[in-house]
Amino acid sequence: MKNFYLTTAIDYANGSPHLGHAYEKILTDVIARTKRLEGHNVHFLTGLDEHGQKVQQGAEKEGISPQERCDKVASEFQEMLTKLNVSHDDYIRTTETRHKKVVSNILQTLYKKGEIYQTEYQGFYSTRAEQFLQEKDKVDGKWPEIFGEVTEITESNYFFKLSKYQDWLVQHITENQDFILPTNRQAQVLEFLKEPLNDLCISRPKERLSWGIPLPFDDNFVTYVWFDALVNYYSAVVSKDPDRENFWPANLHVIGKDILTPPHAVYWPIMLHASGLKTPQSILAHGWWTTSGAKMSKSTGETVDPLSLVDQYGADSFRYFVMREMTVGQDAEFSLERFQSRYRADLGNDLGNLLSRLLHMTQSYVDGVVPAVNLCESYEIGLQERWEKAKNSMLQHFRAYRFNLGLEEIFGFVRAINKYADDRLPWKLAKSEDPQDLQTLRACLSTMLEGLRLVSVAISPVMPTVHAQIHERLALPSIKLWEDELVWGDTLTGKTVKEKIILFPRD
Ligand code: MSP
Repeated sequence: MKNFYLTTAIDYANGSPHLGHAYEKILTDVIARTKRLEGHNVHFLTGLDEHGQKVQQGAEKEGISPQERCDKVASEFQEMLTKLNVSHDDYIRTTETRHKKVVSNILQTLYKKGEIYQTEYQGFYSTRAEQFLQEKDKVDGKWPEIFGEVTEITESNYFFKLSKYQDWLVQHITENQDFILPTNRQAQVLEFLKEPLNDLCISRPKERLSWGIPLPFDDNFVTYVWFDALVNYYSAVVSKDPDRENFWPANLHVIGKDILTPPHAVYWPIMLHASGLKTPQSILAHGWWTTSGAKMSKSTGETVDPLSLVDQYGADSFRYFVMREMTVGQDAEFSLERFQSRYRADLGNDLGNLLSRLLHMTQSYVDGVVPAVNLCESYEIGLQERWEKAKNSMLQHFRAYRFNLGLEEIFGFVRAINKYADDRLPWKLAKSEDPQDLQTLRACLSTMLEGLRLVSVAISPVMPTVHAQIHERLALPSIKLWEDELVWGDTLTGKTVKEKIILFPRD
């Protein structure tokens, strides 16, 4: 079985989980579940980025130790993952020994190779952004508000020879068209690489920041956040269990567009290449959810936290909404009205009603036992053909991370089943005494049930719970491979389906 190792960004331990964090984990989960259904041996990593000044300051404010604060935040983030039904295989925290050891080893290797050097540095420093600034960061001659207090400092620090690898990176990106996804982001990275790269300052003096991993060759310093955080993708699979080593290099890093250039597209591949390690296959940069401020507004003027919708409507409705609305790579605005309209129309009216109506008819007309299809007329053939088209196009979209379009295909097919029922009118056929009509009724029910089974298989990466509920109602076992399951057939013949249920209650 082919390995597929994928990761999310690790979230900062300096705040609570929000919609942006949730979206990224759902997106990666949908990819992980799809890959499993395609027969890959998936390893899915997510985690928490626990070092840095803000975590240290946050802990001071609360009067607890930084580790205690991280533990609190870690359980909050892990709760979110459970609530969203994210199927990660591992959760890494950068304060774990398994991680710190690997960061130290990489730094030591690079230092020995002469890739890291010490020098005096004079410049402007923003404590709020935890970064050195340059004149070009000024707006109208002033430091923008986001940097907070900016002070001029002179300090000795360690630098990593980033600039030495600039040409290598440009060539790597150009030769590996799937390295940066969606491909339209590639141009941005190459544009950034048109300017000469500066070497990267990879240390912070301990007196300014103590909450970090000490440099193995000089413990007056700790490691700069990115040099620590990025390594998680590697440390998680090499240190815990020797069997996991073969998961490196990663197949896919899923991250937000804000941390593509320079951290993931520039620092990370160069760090790996300079250490003699393989680079990841692809980095997928998604866009941002905007919420007109941090929260959404109800028409009453009250505000609502998008994550509270998970409690109210269930994880699958939320997962469906974010995957259906967002074009991966672009930004989207979160709106309660849009959420509710998708919930009521796509989920309630189209899918939910199909299930309950169909189960009810199967119970009432054929005692719940799925009949064999012994009649195939243009209506039935038409629906089967509609499925073939929807399936092929859905698979293509899913493989290219165009989940919104893939879902549109699946739900287009749901509506086609409903339309088929309106054309065939099983409720009328059921009242007829003519044996030919009753034959048509049986064919109609089994055709619709087979269509519903295929829909349930197709939505499973996005709505795993709804999928399991539908399959349970249809008396079907759990699914393994998409290639076997997405085929129109007669798996259901002779099975006794269960009573109807309401999947998406009216809100
Ligand atoms: N700790 C760093 C990542 C280190 S990865 C080696 C970080 N953390 S973060 O908590 O600020 O962000 C975590 C992820 O959430 C990032 O990929 C970021 O792009 C994403 N999002 C944060 N806000 C977001 C939205 N509003 N919308 C979508 N995703 C956004 O960056």
